[in-house]
Formats: sequence, C-alpha cells, structure tokens
Amino acid sequence: MITKNRIQQAEEALQQTKESMNERFRLGYHIMAPANWINDPNGLVQYKGEYHVFYQHHPYDENWGPMHWGHVKSKDLVHWEHLPIALAPGDVCDSDGCFSGSAVDNDGELTLIYTGHHYTDKENDIFYQNQNIAVSKDGITFEKAGENPVIAAPPEDSTHHYRDPKVWKHEDTWYMILGNQSIEEQSGRVILYKSSNLRKWEYVGVLAQSDGSHGFMWECPDFFELDGKYILMLSPQGMEADGDNYNNLYQTGYFVGDYNYETNQFQHGSFIELDHGHDFYAVQTFSDDKNRRIAIGWMDMWEADMPTKKDGWCGALTLPRELRLTSDHKILMNPVEELTLLREREHNVCTDKTISGNHLIEETGDLLEINMEFDLSQTSATAVGLKLKGIKEEETVVVYDINEQKLMLDCSKSGKKEDSVRRTFLQSGSKISLRIFIDRSSIEVFANEGQTTMTSRIYPTEERAGIEVFAEGGEVQVSGCKYWNLKDIWK
Ligand code: FRU
Repeated sequence: MITKNRIQQAEEALQQTKESMNERFRLGYHIMAPANWINDPNGLVQYKGEYHVFYQHHPYDENWGPMHWGHVKSKDLVHWEHLPIALAPGDVCDSDGCFSGSAVDNDGELTLIYTGHHYTDKENDIFYQNQNIAVSKDGITFEKAGENPVIAAPPEDSTHHYRDPKVWKHEDTWYMILGNQSIEEQSGRVILYKSSNLRKWEYVGVLAQSDGSHGFMWECPDFFELDGKYILMLSPQGMEADGDNYNNLYQTGYFVGDYNYETNQFQHGSFIELDHGHDFYAVQTFSDDKNRRIAIGWMDMWEADMPTKKDGWCGALTLPRELRLTSDHKILMNPVEELTLLREREHNVCTDKTISGNHLIEETGDLLEINMEFDLSQTSATAVGLKLKGIKEEETVVVYDINEQKLMLDCSKSGKKEDSVRRTFLQSGSKISLRIFIDRSSIEVFANEGQTTMTSRIYPTEERAGIEVFAEGGEVQVSGCKYWNLKDIWK
C-alpha cells in the first residue's frame, strides 16, 4: 500500500515536470522517461507476447537520485508506451534505491530481481547492497516479496559492491550472476548463485574475474549463449584507456568462451569493447520468441555533459540491437529488423555516382535513417564519409580513413566540445557500408553490417541543412545511398 502511494506521488512529480519540459532535444524513437532522469535499462523481457523494458529512473529530478524502476512496453520493439513506475524505493529491503536488475517470466508471474541500495553514511557514500524480488500477475503492478531480501549479504571475500542481478533459467534451475568486487584484489568480478524457486539462493562461486587490467568493479553483467558460444557481457569501471580503446569513463564489453555448468568453469578469450562511441553503457540482453538475442544499452555516460538537464529530462536507451557471433568470435550488433517500421519518406539519392569533394543533400529533418555504401575496390580517395550539417557551423562527421582503416565519429561541432572524437579500427574490404540512425540528440552508426558500432549523444542547436556526402583526396564510387525520414513514435 505504501509503495502504491510512493508510485502515485512519483507519477505526479513526473506529470508536473512534463508540463514545463523543453522538448528541443527530446528523442523521436528511443526509449526515454516521460521526464527527469534515467540510466541503465533493467528487466528486459518478453511477457505475454509483449516486450517490456524497465529502467533506472529518478522521477523527482533531472539528476541521479533514489532509484525507481521506470517501465515501458511494446508489441514490436518500435512503438513504446509508458506504464506506471514499477518499483519505488523506501521499504526495509531497498531503503535508498531499487538498483539495476533483470526480469523473468516465472510461469506467468513476471518477476523482477533487483538490488536494494542502503546508505549507512550517505555523505561519505558508505552503503550496503542486497538482492530482492518483486512479482506481478498483470505485468503492470508489482509487489515486493515478503521473503526480501532474497540474498541479504555478499560472500565473505567480497566488498560492499554487490549488485545488478541477471537471472536466467537453465534446465530446471534458476541462475543469478552479480557484479561484484573482490576484497583481496579490489578488482571486478562476476559471481554466481543458483535457486530452484527464485527465493532461496545458494552461492556457487566466482564465474569470472579481472586479471588486473579490467578495472576495480564490474557492473551490470549478463551471461548467455550466442551461436554456440557463451558470452559474458559486462560494464567494467576503472579500465585504463589504451589507444583507441576504452576512452569513455567506464566501458562495456564482453568475453567469448565455453562454459561448464557442472564445474562453473568459464574459459574465455580477451575482453572486447562492444561499441566505440561516447555514450554506451550498462547493456543488457534478452532472448525473444524469435530466438533472437537482443541488446539495449544506456545511451549516455556517467559524468558526461548532459545539456538536457536544463530542459527537465536526462537520459535515453539505445535502439534494440540484434546480436550475432562471427566465426572468429566477434559480436555483430545490428538494429532489429522491426525498426524499418519507422521509415516514412524514402529518398534514393546519389547511388552509382562517382564523387569527389562534398555533395550536399538538402534535408531539414532530424529523424533519419541513412544507408550509405562506398565501393573501395578502385577508389583514389583517402577518406570517405558523411557530415550531418547545420545551417551555419554545426556538423557531426562520420568518416572512414581508408589508409589507416579507421572509422571515426567527430562530434566536436555538435555539442561535444571536449573529448569529441572516437576512432576505431575497421578492416577495409572492397566496400564500407554505413547504416546511421539520427534522432535529434543521438547518433548510432552501424558499419559493415554491425562489425563496428558507434553510439553518441549530440546536441545540435542550429536548423539542419542536410547530409553532405564526401570523398577526400580523390574519387570514390557511391554504390548505395538511400535515406528515410523516420516517424516520431512519441507524438
Ligand atoms: C550502472 C549502475 C549500476 C547500478 C545503477 C544505479 O550504471 O551504476 O551498477 O545498479 O547504475 O543506478
């Protein structure tokens, strides 16, 4: 009952903020809260035929604070509808926050598994964390279980960093992994529990651990099978930048390996960064009834400049992306096929033209999908790409450096003044394809069918002039160039 009142109160606060919100940077087809702060995606699940996504949410403020779980659902992964807040903190089991976690369909009962956050000394950020569950029969209102906390405390060799349960079922047993820090090494690791009923959990042991180079804490772990291998995905805090890699404050990446449930042995290769833009973190996945493994991340980064705070909101999730594994064990990430439902007007522009220099395609829309392909088999150019131009100074640049074989995203003239360029190696074959989604204040680049992705927030303030396709240093054949104006699902 108390929870219900807290939820109503939070909904009222959201309603109030919504009325005065500045819409200039609001996204047209990404998941956002109705107003105020969001961070990680939580509880991705398909339940009774619909897709549900929850998210870390502070309904009272544009800054992070006592975490609630916001909630949206969709029939098609494209058109989302806001539902009432699912979890509000303030009970004995989650006094200062309902932190990240996951969701499972337990025989028709939608069960959320989440971390309770508790300050013992808030000013000095001294806290403890435990694990809890909440259940729902209708997928809308949730009741916290009387058994909470279902896990009260971490194992003895653990620090107080003990959060973000990801739960799945294998054969007849539930498994839970948690992001954790070992006391001895003060480094990140993932630990495993198992249960027959989601309420009583038995500690199994460490599933994977940093070798010293993977940061001090591993947040938001996920573990699943993909194309015959096991993937451990996680968001390490505290990895050192290494050339073009790990340039954000915190990273998201994965290990590929083989796993044995009997022995809890996970033999894996090295850590691979998952996206190379500025704003991609805390990714979670789920599998749906089409047997796809779908990932959604938070499309922002801790401590980044977030200009929409002045507008009364902050934070968004990435597009849903389907994951596949290549034969050399790299993840391919591509937008789910349903996203073509967003397409409105189609424009077929300079396909099969040889270009050099700059070619402006006039387009004032700010919700776009662009598909470009450059034929590199006979090019004399040194770099090819496109710029999303404003009418005066502003531009966001996606460029492929042919000699260096590097894909680059430059947001220095689109709202990221410092630390504005991200680069990554991308093997050049005979072509480079770029599938780009622009949504007012975001850009997501999928290069060569998902071999590389770059995700960043941008904050352009000028009217849009168009898309400038370019080739530097010589000529290139544009083998494909189409774009679409996309629908605003929130209007
Ligand atoms: C990751 C994270 C999680 C935590 C949540 C709190 O971004 O720090 O580890 O549960 O955010 O909002």
